[in-house]
Amino acid sequence: MQAPTHRVTPATSLNGVVRLPGDKSISHRYAMIAAVAEGASLLHNYSSGADCQSTLGCIEALGIQVEREGRTVRVHGRGLDGLTAPAAALDAGNSGSTIRMLSGMLAAQPFESVIGGDESLSRRPMQRIMTPLRAMGAEISAREDKFPPLAIRGARLTPIRYEPPVPSAQVKTCVLFAGLHTEGVTEVVERVRTRDHTEVALREFGAVVEQSGGAISIQGRPRLTARELSVPGDLSSAAFFLAAANLLPGSRIVIEQVGLSPSRTQLLDWLLGAGAQIRVLDVGQKAGEMVGTLLVTYSGIGGGVIEGAMTAALIDEIPVLAVLGARSERGLTVRDAAELRVKETDRIETVAENLRRMGCEITTSADGFHVPGKQRFRGAVCDSFGDHRIVMAFAVAGLAADGETLIENAAAASVSFPEFYVTLDSLRA
Ligand code: S3P
Repeated sequence: MQAPTHRVTPATSLNGVVRLPGDKSISHRYAMIAAVAEGASLLHNYSSGADCQSTLGCIEALGIQVEREGRTVRVHGRGLDGLTAPAAALDAGNSGSTIRMLSGMLAAQPFESVIGGDESLSRRPMQRIMTPLRAMGAEISAREDKFPPLAIRGARLTPIRYEPPVPSAQVKTCVLFAGLHTEGVTEVVERVRTRDHTEVALREFGAVVEQSGGAISIQGRPRLTARELSVPGDLSSAAFFLAAANLLPGSRIVIEQVGLSPSRTQLLDWLLGAGAQIRVLDVGQKAGEMVGTLLVTYSGIGGGVIEGAMTAALIDEIPVLAVLGARSERGLTVRDAAELRVKETDRIETVAENLRRMGCEITTSADGFHVPGKQRFRGAVCDSFGDHRIVMAFAVAGLAADGETLIENAAAASVSFPEFYVTLDSLRA
């Protein structure tokens, strides 16, 4: 458990080799699919983050035996019809992925379940999954018809063809998971492609998932069989180190065994385009996912714009890119990012508040912000506001600040990366 306030002292440079906890997105998917596969799946390097532990807690409450040994998790799947009614409300904690993706499975069960979470999760919009699940035949009620907790009365679902109005891998996954349980073919049509870990993982467990242009379809009622899989390191966690290396001259960091799915590496494309020096030292494919080693060397960043489909692709990394943008040559402009306002916190406001506390300028709009470049960070008291990506972004800013930075509510990092502070400290010269 981290101290409630974390103290960051300035660093000169960061040097060394890191391995990151298992990818959060992939861990959730492996656990949920393993639960409805037949037999015991062994999942190595499963994310140590609280969000992925919430997923394990939920599937246990649905009658699935889960054994944990360090970072390896054994999930005793019971097949597509094996989940049982939970004795109490399911607790998704802080995890939007857990509630939105698992709801796809709950909607097809012959029992009623209630799923909710913490205060932050209770403010996050759920219509985006309620609409397609209702169209498939599930009965769902929610607080004010849009917020958790959700009460889901499962039904025999019918397949649909669905085009989500907002690009979202969580919504796509929810619909595909519901489609697993239908007789027929369920299709999700994406105008903007989102991360494809669900499609990759479902195929690994034996489902028939096809993709043609932006349309992804799943054949219902497949026979899913248990697998032994290893979760690659989380590229969204790597983002903090990629940014830190570009804030501190002389830095050189090797990031091993990190997930390099082409549906996530727009982060690297953007950083390279902005002037970063990142080399892929090796890369290979494991269970359908690209995994490799990155070497990042300080080079300083020119800055730039994030907009359109790029915004959707970089949505989780924007807080730390804002920090980097403040120190870049030309600054950073982010557009088309209304989704940032409905993440674990309103990330446009929490980024702006912390940057201002550090003495930086930022202007915000309804769906974006502009941070001028060439700014200095003044050591200050920042706040995570309970958001894991905000606390890690400002711990990185603190490394490059004049003076000491204190971050309140620092334990929020454990939502995706409990080892964050230790890993960061291990790289100090
Ligand atoms: C995720 C999808 C994204 C992302 C989240 C994880 C996933 O959310 O921000 O951290 O694992 O599918 P949206 O689907 O809301 O864009």
